[in-house]
Amino acid sequence: MSGSNILFVLTGSIAAAKACAVVSALVQRGHRVRTVITAAGLQFVGPATLEGLTGEAPQTDLFAPGTALDHIELARWADLTVVCPATAHSINRFAAGLADDLAGALLLARERDRPLLIVPAMNPAMWSHPATQAAVTRLREWGARFVAPGAGRTACGEVGEGRMAEPEEIVAVIESALARPVNARRILVTSGATAELLDGVRVLTNTSTGRTGAELARHFAAAGHQVTLLRAASAPAAGAPVADETFVSFEDLDRALTRLLGAADFDAVVHAAAVGDFGIGSLWVDGVEWPPGGAKLDSGRNVLLELRPQPKLVDTLRERSRNPALTVVAFKLTDGATAPAAQAAVDTLFKRARVDVVVHNDNAQRGAAPGQFPATIHRRGDSAVIACADRAELAARLTEVLELIANPSTPSSHAALP
Ligand SMILES: Cc1cc2nc3c(=O)[nH]c(=O)nc-3n(C[C@H](O)[C@H](O)[C@H](O)COP(=O)(O)O)c2cc1C
Repeated sequence: MSGSNILFVLTGSIAAAKACAVVSALVQRGHRVRTVITAAGLQFVGPATLEGLTGEAPQTDLFAPGTALDHIELARWADLTVVCPATAHSINRFAAGLADDLAGALLLARERDRPLLIVPAMNPAMWSHPATQAAVTRLREWGARFVAPGAGRTACGEVGEGRMAEPEEIVAVIESALARPVNARRILVTSGATAELLDGVRVLTNTSTGRTGAELARHFAAAGHQVTLLRAASAPAAGAPVADETFVSFEDLDRALTRLLGAADFDAVVHAAAVGDFGIGSLWVDGVEWPPGGAKLDSGRNVLLELRPQPKLVDTLRERSRNPALTVVAFKLTDGATAPAAQAAVDTLFKRARVDVVVHNDNAQRGAAPGQFPATIHRRGDSAVIACADRAELAARLTEVLELIANPSTPSSHAALP
């Protein structure tokens, strides 16, 4: 963990002086630290201080001659980005995705499967303001982690929550966010339902919520893996440091899978997305063929919809992958199937799609209690089945199964049913 590349962004708070102690501690602990400071930040800390601490002058100007593309290089370089101190203004603009200075541009350009930590420091009223709290929620949904401000007397003399955390705590959180297991892997998780536009406002979709994919992505990230969550626009984000991408239609998902699997060496793809089995073949309105996804159809029209089967994306994941050793986890949903029928459906998937793992669940068993998700995990060539009661258990067991596939000598903790 020591020797990581840390991009340290300072914004215009009085706590910038205290943040210098964090920079100093990180350098002393063997990390390479490069600093970026906003124009307001320079009112509180001089460039000489940061250069003295890190051996490199801070960057502040997006348009400085000779360094105009540095934000891209810096974004790729960083193993972790930390904004410390983070002002109310910066938290709000980051949540709006604004890139009107170097700090804002960096936060948009950064590698989103690497950790982003935000360390707020501000007056208690600014911290509790709904604008700031909404921005915090949004940034969390996008995977940022916050080092909670403490309560007490702030620099402005007011008492309440808003005081920046202490340097030792910040260093500890940074290092724990950097700690990845030696066996960290790249995992692509797909999640949620595809939706085909019938007209400008109506869609053909299914009841998948995307909660399972989000839970899996969160769990894999917490286990130290590098995760990309490719989710339906209507599905929840992971709320963890993962690269997050959205899709709407079958075609969007199809294209994104080809691009992502072809561009990076993923070790595993966990295909939890509920891909529509049927697409829109043709649409007839009052006897006239109508382009799907076009203008909103008035009510009272006579609509005839012809559906056509869509290809099975799971069948072609392996051939799209740059990594020929890709592990593929497929999901199979049955509806009121008997145990032999469910097993037959799982076996068909193993045979047809050449997947390594199948997660099976049955629609009739769902929804007994919130969070429950009875499912079984099946491994190719292994008759033992792992039963899971809910999403959290599924995520934990699947993490172990992936570990076992990558490293067959790993001791397993799960109880498999014969
Ligand atoms: C003396 C002083 C102290 C300040 N301290 C804070 C602070 O702790 N937190 C904060 O959110 N804003 C603070 N501000 C206001 C910010 O500097 C201001 O909102 C600025 O626009 C932030 O810009 P930046 O986020 O781009 O760095 C302070 C301003 C002054 C004059």
